[in-house]
Amino acid sequence: MDRVTSVRAIATRYAARRGPLLPILHAVQSEHGSITRPDVVAIADVLNISIADVHGVVSFYSDFRSTPPPAHTIEVCRAEACQSVGGQALHDEIVARFADSSDVQVREVFCLGNCALGPSGTIDGRLCGRLSTDRIAALTEGWSA
Ligand code: FES
Repeated sequence: MDRVTSVRAIATRYAARRGPLLPILHAVQSEHGSITRPDVVAIADVLNISIADVHGVVSFYSDFRSTPPPAHTIEVCRAEACQSVGGQALHDEIVARFADSSDVQVREVFCLGNCALGPSGTIDGRLCGRLSTDRIAALTEGWSA
């Protein structure tokens, strides 16, 4: 099955639900890794809504991506509790460390519910507390920087 057919099938599966757009977008991204312009067009067609409406939702939520995901993702919490123990500086250092890497995406997040163990973050989806540049270097050993 080609991608457009797959996306149309996903959209059709959720179309009769109340508020189907977000579940469709999550399902498409889960299945294909991103939500491309042709995906947006297909979803809009199936739901009989405008392309702009679908694009607006895709572009509003930072979790939706229009390009394939990088090999690795680091999230660093920048909310208050983590910020009070160095989360901001840690985020900036990690962004600089991986600035030239196309394999690693560094994202800011705002509270992971792990405030007591800040600075907190995730490494490829795994929640980590008491993060430091040294600890992140150890946890990402072998990644291209
Ligand atoms: S403020 Fe960072 S985990 Fe809650």
